[in-house]
Amino acid sequence: MKCTVLTLFPEMVENIAYTSILGRAVKNGVIDFHAVQIRDYADNDRGQIDDYTYGGGAGLMIQAEPVFRAHQDVSGGKKVRTVFLTPSGIPFTQSLARELAKEEELIFLCGHYEGIDERVLEEVVTDRVSIGDYVLTGGELPAMVMIDAVSRLIPGVLGNETSADIESFHRNLLEYPQFTRPEVWHDKAIPEVLLTGDHRKIEAWRTEHAEARTRQYRPDLFEKYQEGCALYSRLTRKKRRNMPATEAMRLHDIRVLSRDENAVCFLDLEEDVLYLCGLKEETETVDFPENLPDSVKEIRGCGVRFSEDPQGWTKSRERLFVFTEKSPLSGATYEKDLLKKNYMDRTNAKVMAFETPWEGVPDSERDIIDVLQLLRYYESDREMFRYQKKSLAFQDAL
Ligand code: 6GU
Repeated sequence: MKCTVLTLFPEMVENIAYTSILGRAVKNGVIDFHAVQIRDYADNDRGQIDDYTYGGGAGLMIQAEPVFRAHQDVSGGKKVRTVFLTPSGIPFTQSLARELAKEEELIFLCGHYEGIDERVLEEVVTDRVSIGDYVLTGGELPAMVMIDAVSRLIPGVLGNETSADIESFHRNLLEYPQFTRPEVWHDKAIPEVLLTGDHRKIEAWRTEHAEARTRQYRPDLFEKYQEGCALYSRLTRKKRRNMPATEAMRLHDIRVLSRDENAVCFLDLEEDVLYLCGLKEETETVDFPENLPDSVKEIRGCGVRFSEDPQGWTKSRERLFVFTEKSPLSGATYEKDLLKKNYMDRTNAKVMAFETPWEGVPDSERDIIDVLQLLRYYESDREMFRYQKKSLAFQDAL
């Protein structure tokens, strides 16, 4: 990823960029990092780029032209995702980090003094971002906070020592306490369970402590965590029917768009897939939310039963439907009109172009593997098998 910081203090960001894990990624070329001095683009030979604020007010502002020229030079006139760091931006989150990590190129624009002329911001900035509710003297540290969070999500940046992948439920939990040698320090022994080698007990201890900490320090997160757990266990009551949805919940961040006693509709924020799950034994109609986000690439509906069936094939059996834009198995086009009639009329055109590649209830382990493969969860047979076992074991435990 190419990553450029436009700043009045390049040495401030360079120091961070060339140190530690980020430094290694820059050295290895995984991140192509540049710090660009805005002053170099001044239209006078004194390097002056600031001036007073129209309408009065304390302090100097950075002028539009030098910022514009620096940005043009870096972007080459192409549309490049450009983040302006400002305390009045939207809050930076892990989900924005994940979104930015998909870009090939990013530009970070750091303000100082009282800010930057609004007119150039309108022309070059795509995102205005704040890193929290407090005021700093400039955008350099926030830019580096963002670059750190984004870069660790890029493959090849973290080594074997750490992984960016935490099971999604646990992303709403604070870290549990951890210990290293010696076993006793200042008369404090480490919790005994950690010495037992009993993996299940250790996991239980860790979850318990992570939950307790989260409840105490971050009640807001704890509430989210509990909601997620409740929905998950509700869906796993119909294990096989809801397998794709629960796997999405388990592995990715999700956002629930709507929920009532009939159905839940949630978005997989990492894969931009919309899941529609019936919650009742006999769900008859399920409504999509009125306004689906533009980012939705696919819809997968699971275990939704039709109440009327002109073609006579869904009456008595529960079925798993997979709605997808690309159809690996195709040949089921006759379902299209029926599905459209029942569910799709209110969705946008992009999603209307679906086909249904699968019908039927997965009854055996082989069937489940087929479904998962169909959903492109798994690349190779070996990987598939490992996963298969893991997910079944996990679900059995519940
Ligand atoms: Cl992005 N900039 C400044 N100056 N202060 C901040 C901030 C950004 N985020 C939180 N405080």
